[in-house]
This record gives sequence, structure tokens and C-alpha cells, in this order.
Amino acid sequence: MSRTLDDVNVAGQRVLLRADLNVPVQDGEVTDATRLERLVPTIAELVDNGAKVIVLSHFDRPQGKFVPALSLRPVAESLGRILGKPVGFAADCIGPEAENAVGRLNNGDVLVLENTRFHAGEERNDPDFVAALAKLGDIFVNDAFSVAHRAHASTAGVARHLPSFAGRLMQAELHALEKALGNPQRPVAAIVAGSKVSTKLDLLNNLVTKVDILVIGGAMANTFLAAQGHNVGKSLQEGDLHGPALEILKTAAVKGCEILLPSDVVVAEKFEANAPTQVVKIDEIPASAMVLDVGPATVETFIKRLPEIKTIIWNGPLGAFETKPFDASTNTLAKAIAEATQAGKVISVGGGGDTVSALKLAGVHDELTYLSSAGGAFLEWMEGKILPGVEVLSKAFSNLG
Ligand code: 3PG
Repeated sequence: MSRTLDDVNVAGQRVLLRADLNVPVQDGEVTDATRLERLVPTIAELVDNGAKVIVLSHFDRPQGKFVPALSLRPVAESLGRILGKPVGFAADCIGPEAENAVGRLNNGDVLVLENTRFHAGEERNDPDFVAALAKLGDIFVNDAFSVAHRAHASTAGVARHLPSFAGRLMQAELHALEKALGNPQRPVAAIVAGSKVSTKLDLLNNLVTKVDILVIGGAMANTFLAAQGHNVGKSLQEGDLHGPALEILKTAAVKGCEILLPSDVVVAEKFEANAPTQVVKIDEIPASAMVLDVGPATVETFIKRLPEIKTIIWNGPLGAFETKPFDASTNTLAKAIAEATQAGKVISVGGGGDTVSALKLAGVHDELTYLSSAGGAFLEWMEGKILPGVEVLSKAFSNLG
């Protein structure tokens, strides 16, 4: 267990706060500020308790070089607007520029340092770069679960140099994920969808050993159907993964994990908005058509099972949700899960890039028990991997606690 902000007096301390300010920016404007909004509880608490808050973050992937378009300056401005207070900015995250800006901070001030990935030492977790970051703070608070799968200087390295604590967002993410997969109320169902089995092999292999029901949707379900001998027409599918797909089904049977694959699908001749569609059973897919969503009978089958399920974990939209009408099954299922969650019947946790967008489009992103702000980190956690940024926080606890 990591130490949290409950375990430290931050008054007058220089707090190095690792945040994830990697938000979408277009023409210098933040287009989705969800990640910034989620940082408010931690920053506000630190400010109210008289800390000098120094925010560290990467932005995009500049590969160790200064790339003006990938500056964190516009994000710092946006963070200031969200916090409702001035936020300073230093044009470098180490060296005199950063040190002078930190030296000028008063208690309760907030300063954002420039993109850590402008230095090659960040991704290499280089000891000199770590030391240069660590000297800027008295304590380290990590509130960036979404980048905890990277063993970088600002996520893992600094935590070995300073007394380290989990921020409120990190705490909330870990708590929700523990409830969903670490120590869940059973039966637990996972919904895994998306386009490719190849990117989710580890995840599927881990889940079949942990969950009671596994729903497979999206184009990746086509690979499973094709592996079972169904003709999937012109659908996206991975012919070279039929073997691993059948292995997953075998392991599931051994481990007592029930797999729900589509029984019907929505097909079209063309993948375009409002294309004419047909709902067909999986053994009636026309050779000229492609599967673009799971069918209504499939969704209904799962919805009927909801009353028996206590925990749901969701990664990946069921169909090509960004193009109507192929968002229908994702929307129907999202609404049913949101309703069951709001009625207190199920604990629901969603996460991973497209999942958040899909649940937002369905209008229910505030109605699940927890929606993770993480993409890759959420997937790696679902794969059962140890996340270095989280591991070092609990180790730091045993070293210092
Ligand atoms: C994310 O957006 O998933 C995190 O900020 C991590 O970014 P990365 O994949 O570039 O490390």
C-alpha cells in the first residue's frame, strides 16, 4: 500500500507533483480537459495546505528533443483556468530556469515545468536527470496513474530519491481497479472489444484466469468467429491469430470462464456513415459484407445476465462506434450498465482510450462507478502487469515508512 496525502504535512514544502498533462491540444487550445479536471482535488488540497506545488509532466513523444509545438505552456494556462488561480510556467524542467522559478514560489503557489520528455534522460530514467529533478522538491507526489506503466525518471526515478506519496487521483484509480479485478465482488464480467486480438492477447490470457464471464466484441470477435469456422465475409479479422484465439477459448473452458461471443451481427457492404445495414446470425454473414457491430440479440443476451453480475470491467467499444449506426450496441449496453450501476446493483469500471470516448458519446461516462483516465496503463494493468510507477510508491513506503 502506498502512503497518501493523509500521511504528510506539506505546509511550506516543495512538492514535486507528477501529473499527466498529456491532453489533446489543437491550435494551442486544450480540446478535452478531463485529465486536468481530475487533478484538481490533489492540487487544491496541496495549495490549501500551504505547499509549493511544482507540476512535472510529459507531453506527447518529442523523443528527447526540444519541440516547440510540444510545449506544456498552453496546457499550464488551461490548468490555471480550471484551478481558478494563476499557474506559473518554467521553460525547462531542470537547471537554472526551473531552479529559479521554484526558488520564487510562495506557499500555495502552483508552477508547471516544461515537458520532461524534452530531455533524453526522462525516458532512459537517467540518474543525473533524476537527481536534477529531485533537487527541485522536498517530497514527491505521484498523481499520474495513466503514465505509471512507464519506468521513467519522473514516474519511477524520482520516487527513489524523495519521500513519496500517492495523490488523490492515483489513490482513486488504484482503489477502483482493486475493486474491479484485484479483489472483486463475484461474479465478475469483463467486456473486451476493439479492433485487434493481436494488441490484446496478454490481456485476454490474463482475464480468462480472473473473471467469470468474458464478453468479446468489436472486430476482434471476428477473429474468434473465423477461428471457429464461421465465414466472416469481408470483415476485418486476423487470420494468423486463429490458433491463439482457440487457445484462449480452451484456457477459458479449463478455468471456468464463460466466453460470450456474438450470436448475431450488424453487417454492411460499405463502411460509411448511414450505410444500409442488415442484422444477420453469425452463420449467415454474406460473403460481400463486413461486420461492423454486434447485433441486438447478442446485446440482449448480456443485458439479461446483468442481474446476476456484481462487477463489470469494460475495455473497448463493441462496434465501429465513431460512425453511425455502428454505435448502437455500444450505446445500448452502456446505458444498461449505467442504469444497473446507478441502481446500486453492479460495480462498473471502464478505461482505455476509445472506451472513454465511446461512453461519452453514449452520454453515460458519469454514471459508471469509475472511469479511468488511463489508456495504455489501464491495459497493462488489465494484463496483470506490475506498473513501475505504482510499484515504486509502495516500495518507497516500505523503505521510508
Ligand atoms: C497516455 O496518454 O496514455 C499517457 O500520457 C502515456 O503516454 P505515452 O504512451 O506516450 O507514454
